[in-house]
Amino acid sequence: MIVIKMLPEHIDGVKGLLDICFGESAWSAEAIRSQMEKPGSYCWLAWESDRVIGYLAFEQIVDEGSIVEIAVHPDFRRQGIARKLITTAWDDHKDLSVVFLEVREGNTAAIALYEKLGFERIGERKGYYDHPKENAMIMRKDI
Ligand SMILES: CC(C)(COP(=O)(O)OP(=O)(O)OC[C@H]1O[C@@H](n2cnc3c(N)ncnc32)[C@H](O)[C@@H]1OP(=O)(O)O)[C@@H](O)C(=O)NCCC(=O)NCCS
Repeated sequence: MIVIKMLPEHIDGVKGLLDICFGESAWSAEAIRSQMEKPGSYCWLAWESDRVIGYLAFEQIVDEGSIVEIAVHPDFRRQGIARKLITTAWDDHKDLSVVFLEVREGNTAAIALYEKLGFERIGERKGYYDHPKENAMIMRKDI
């Protein structure tokens, strides 16, 4: 597995991965493209045997970063791939001082990942997510 920067030719592969990971609430191909093209957005892939097995959308404004989306194919989980995607993004952005993210309160795997990386809960947004309706936990890590 290698971590690479996403290119336009990877949109279909990312779409396939997000469909598997998020089902009906997965982003559309158009949403994936606009995330990739957005100023201040950096999209990274975990790449294995010519296919996308992991995806990270990371944004940075001045010294503030945010994890917008992350997903790893179910067949490749618990192998450190999400951690590698996030630390690769951090290493590429030397001037970061803080990173924020939002996560579903019930997403125990993602919360465990973020806690392992040193994120702390700083608040919540009630009813932030739809399908199903759920609160968002806001997390922060100082770099
Ligand atoms: C959350 C997700 C990205 C984690 O990807 P991953 O590649 O399996 O994570 P890693 O292997 O890098 O895990 C690093 C650490 O996070 C924690 N962790 C990750 N998944 C976990 C789980 N299911 N249960 C408990 N701890 C978990 C562990 O501490 C793990 O270290 P360890 O394996 O040495 O114990 C993956 O489960 C996923 O794609 N889920 C569906 C999409 C999603 O919910 N995205 C998050 C949106 S906010």
